[in-house]
Amino acid sequence: MTNNPASLTTQQADLVRMAIDIRRSAYAPYSNFLVGAALLADDGRVFVGCNVENASYSLCVCAERVAGGTAVANGSRKWTTVAVASRGGVTPCGACRQWLGEFGDDLVVLCVDAETKAVTNHLLRDLLPHAFNKSSLAT
Ligand code: THU
Repeated sequence: MTNNPASLTTQQADLVRMAIDIRRSAYAPYSNFLVGAALLADDGRVFVGCNVENASYSLCVCAERVAGGTAVANGSRKWTTVAVASRGGVTPCGACRQWLGEFGDDLVVLCVDAETKAVTNHLLRDLLPHAFNKSSLAT
């Protein structure tokens, strides 16, 4: 679903701005693909992250996992919304879908085109159907 900015809540619009802002901190000299993420916790706190690349390519870390790891380190594990800003407003990679899903599949994922500011709105469970998660381990 594509939203124009007017259809976002004030809180979502703030989150989108934070994702666009933190994207400027991205360290992406190899891909030149800058990503910013802003994660809204159920208690109103926001945790931000950007992608951080490495000359040893497989060590690159995505913006969503930097934001989520920061949240966890600060005692936050329940999240309502994540805004992810990038060129073109891409959806999170598969690894990040799995990583975020560890903490709940009802997360709203706002994908933001950093240039046009267009936002698409998704639910994590739609982006990662039939997920492997902690309940899978109990079978
Ligand atoms: N990237 C993210 O930060 N999040 C995603 O969901 C997709 C990919 C980063 C990883 C790498 O630094 C660059 O974008 C190109 O893949």
